[in-house]
Amino acid sequence: MQTLAIIGSQWGDEGKGKITDLLGQKCDLVVRYQGGNNAGHTIIVGNKKTVLHLIPSGILHPHCVSLIGHGVVFDPEAFCKELDEVVNSGVEVTPKNLKISENATVITAYNKLLDVQRESKGPVKIGTTGRGIGPAYEDKAARKAIKIKDLLDLERLTKKLRQNAEEKIVLFEAKYKTEYPSVEAEAKRLFELGERVAPFVCDTFSYLDQALTANKKVLYEGAQGVLLDVDYGTYPYVTSSNTSAGGIYTGAGVSGKHLDEVLGITKAYTTRVGEGPFPSELFDEVGKHIQTKGNEVGATTGRTRRCGWLDLPLLKYSVKASNITSLALTKVDILCGIDTLKICIGYKYKGEIIDCAYPGIDLAEVEPVLKEVPPFNDTFTDGKELSPSLKSYIETIEQTVGIPVGIIAYGPERSEIKFLQNYF
Ligand code: GDP
Ligand code: IMO
Ligand code: MG
Repeated sequence: MQTLAIIGSQWGDEGKGKITDLLGQKCDLVVRYQGGNNAGHTIIVGNKKTVLHLIPSGILHPHCVSLIGHGVVFDPEAFCKELDEVVNSGVEVTPKNLKISENATVITAYNKLLDVQRESKGPVKIGTTGRGIGPAYEDKAARKAIKIKDLLDLERLTKKLRQNAEEKIVLFEAKYKTEYPSVEAEAKRLFELGERVAPFVCDTFSYLDQALTANKKVLYEGAQGVLLDVDYGTYPYVTSSNTSAGGIYTGAGVSGKHLDEVLGITKAYTTRVGEGPFPSELFDEVGKHIQTKGNEVGATTGRTRRCGWLDLPLLKYSVKASNITSLALTKVDILCGIDTLKICIGYKYKGEIIDCAYPGIDLAEVEPVLKEVPPFNDTFTDGKELSPSLKSYIETIEQTVGIPVGIIAYGPERSEIKFLQNYF
């Protein structure tokens, strides 16, 4: 295997950071291709915790090159802050091991302001992270985005930003009645940040192309999850990028032949942050227990994550939508000791039972079909076999979605993992 994608198979926060860090050890390159600092990927090594939002989760391995592709929306201020944090924690980051696409889209102060104003005053609340992600992707689709390479020339930047801000200023003044920075001030701010970013900026397309030709091992690190994909996800309660494996082709800049396998990261239960339907959501003490024991608090916004049982109709759909070839089942330890353990195996919908959450189904209208399964309480001591109940939990997943579980994670630490299959 030369190339592998790490894709969240649910609504994000499945443990992609941990798995990327682990498999990154065996790779030459780790590539982020979509999303921005709405992501929060946690890596725990010993008593050191690193939360990455924009920098790829391979950065802790000195031999591994981290690459931010052109499909990413890039907040230069958030980047500089994260770079300082990572460097201050003792990690060496240089233009040799971090490369940023000159064509990535910049998140401006106007994008962030628009995101926050819409969420607080607009007609539909999505529960966004407020990082300006949606408005930045809107600019890109509208062909008026500021690109990283624009940050390097103040005159050009000011001109482009003036065109970019024209319509937004009408909204800030007439609709949202809010203050906003002048074009000159914002251009100056971005230009100054650009000076810090500049050494890392390059043609990542060619870099990746050459790496692949030289048979380098590449890991694509997805952000968010398939159910938040702007095309495949639970629209409109989604993010604004293609979070599924399809996003790699456009966001990193590679052709279809360069993706050997897709590893779907799947929490042993389900969580969601923000608004939107959630068929297997728990509102009882068990849900609270999972939330507390699993420390289900957003790594980016600090919001409490909604919790529910593992939803197999949704997982089955994600596997199809993202061509996932195997699963990494994470946070299995959190379900240990729950006496009445359930899995959502289907939905009652319009008088029928369905087993896959195809897009035509209105998730707000389904009733989950819950199956009680034997509880488990594994200790995951070295060399000890998994209990029959946990094995049966895994088999239920494998049989329903039709692909193998290749990894089991049972704690946040790098070492708390069991490989049932080899990667790289
Ligand atoms: P990501 O966005 O997919 O990278 O996931 P997050 O970092 O936002 O959230 C996952 C959280 O679960 C982090 O706090 C991880 O440290 C933690 N985590 C990952 N895998 C496991 C696991 O197997 N067990 C436990 N208890 N925690 C885990
Ligand atoms: P990682 O990579 C979980 C959610 C937000 C909101 C919706 C849209 O850590 O798994 P946005 O700010 O993107 O416009 O918000 O998407 N969301 C995430 N939820 N994990 C994430 O990233 C998320 N990134 C965005 O909560 O519901
Ligand atoms: Mg996260």
